[in-house]
Amino acid sequence: MALAIKYSHLVGCLKNKNMKIKNICCIGAGYVGGPTMAVIASKCPDINITIVDINKQRIDAWNGPLDKLPIYEPGLSEIVGQTRDKNLFFSTNIDAAIKNSEMIFISVNTPTKTYGEGKGFASDLTFIENCARQIAAVAKNNKIIVEKSTLPVRTAEKIKEVLESNSDVEFEVLSNPEFLAEGTAVSDLLHPDRVLIGGEETPSGQKALNTLAEIYQQWVPEDKVLKTNVWSSELSKLAANAMLAQRISSINSLSALCEKSGASIKEVSRAIGMDSRIGSKFLNASVGFGGSCFQKDILNLVYLCRFYGLDEVASYWLGVIEINDYQKDRFSSKILLELNNTVNQKKIALLGWAFKKDTNDTRESAAIYVADKLLDEGALISVFDPMVSEKQIHDDLIYLWKSKDLSDTKMKDKLSRIEVFSTHLQAVKDSFAVAVLTEWDEFKEYNWSEIQDSMYKPAKIFDGRNILMGNKSIINYYPIG
Ligand code: NAD
Ligand code: UGA
Repeated sequence: MALAIKYSHLVGCLKNKNMKIKNICCIGAGYVGGPTMAVIASKCPDINITIVDINKQRIDAWNGPLDKLPIYEPGLSEIVGQTRDKNLFFSTNIDAAIKNSEMIFISVNTPTKTYGEGKGFASDLTFIENCARQIAAVAKNNKIIVEKSTLPVRTAEKIKEVLESNSDVEFEVLSNPEFLAEGTAVSDLLHPDRVLIGGEETPSGQKALNTLAEIYQQWVPEDKVLKTNVWSSELSKLAANAMLAQRISSINSLSALCEKSGASIKEVSRAIGMDSRIGSKFLNASVGFGGSCFQKDILNLVYLCRFYGLDEVASYWLGVIEINDYQKDRFSSKILLELNNTVNQKKIALLGWAFKKDTNDTRESAAIYVADKLLDEGALISVFDPMVSEKQIHDDLIYLWKSKDLSDTKMKDKLSRIEVFSTHLQAVKDSFAVAVLTEWDEFKEYNWSEIQDSMYKPAKIFDGRNILMGNKSIINYYPIG
């Protein structure tokens, strides 16, 4: 008993030693920075949080009408509405926010390098290094720096080096990767499976780690806050994304075999998912995974493995991406084949452009690749997505074409053959085929007889998400697997 009291007293004393955080700055007002800080602000009313960004338009939108926030996430506008201008602020004054805070989250983008050493694989850490240099230049007192962005293992070391060689104040660098998925960001943040924090195994490193843990423990049960060393934390994030993507590529590879052998991927995935060792989540066959992170993070993992001379390990993970590319290509080829190998001047309607439902994010969406391949075949593409604007669709394609060094003439021609509609009925009218590319719930509720009636016959429906399976009104139905 006495021992227990002494131990709890000791833990209490150690806890008291944690720094009291009153002001947080988050650099990067994107898909992670915005929702993550909004949730921390709502759960920790005593902490003032300022989210800063170099993108003024984005900051203006965060400060603008709640129904026009730059990011669509269910439940987000409500939380921003409750906290904005109380203890949550959006600003472009990065220096001021850095100066005023004891803790700084770095939540900037870490895209795949498009140039130089590691091109096409390694993460481009320019934005991260810029943040570190700016923090070092401005900071007047000690700070805890939190890596929220997804980073290659051992980045914290590099950040610390930049900070310490450019400033006299003391910095602790923590790794605190984010596991939220888009479309469910708010609920993932409110009820995370775990919060991972990596800190240096020094007294000051552990103190910083516990200071951050205490913030999360305002609403996350203590046993879900995992504390590790920095390198394990950094690598766990890449590993988690790689394992999730691997499940999708595994089921997608089997979907190809199902189509040849007469098995059904829905039945196969149900049968294997009921094995409690395998589990049922992330076994939905699809047109291929998209999103800003799976591909980027696996490429980064591949780069790291090669860097350390682990070529076999690199090839293993690269296979996950190769199957994903194969799946996107296979889906487009199936449309082509089923339309007598010619889609030239035929209208093909794409329902859905976002990389998954309940988000307006289109980064790496399979739709971009499917549209591009069909445009290459001369098709006329019509698109409807409940959340994605025409401008975004054009920007996505132009970005892809520029990466392929397409000539201006070719780009103009392809762009002239793509039309974006504000209703699904306009998009499908007079089309030869409809391809469902995002699993928006409303697509399931459509009157599919009406849709097929408005199309050229035979009206063919290609379901890249298998959401219309079992809909008896669809006559020529082509699911995945
Ligand atoms: P994002 O592109 O939506 O947002 C990043 C923001 O950082 C941009 O608005 C950009 O203008 C800003 N920025 C860049 N450099 C800056 C600088 N020097 N100063 C101020 N602002 C700067 O990116 P995101 O989707 O939020 O992803 C951020 C990080 O989180 C990435 O590393 C990503 O891998 C990781 N991540 C993303 C998700 C997701 O669902 N999107 C989930 C988990 C982890
Ligand atoms: C993913 C991870 O799920 C998050 O944990 C992680 O934090 C995030 O990446 C990140 O680091 O950015 P996200 O990409 O937002 O989240 O969305 P997911 O739900 O993982 O879906 C990714 C893609 O896989 C989507 O295109 C989705 O449609 C596809 N998918 C997902 C399938 O094709 N089949 C499935 O069974 C599940």
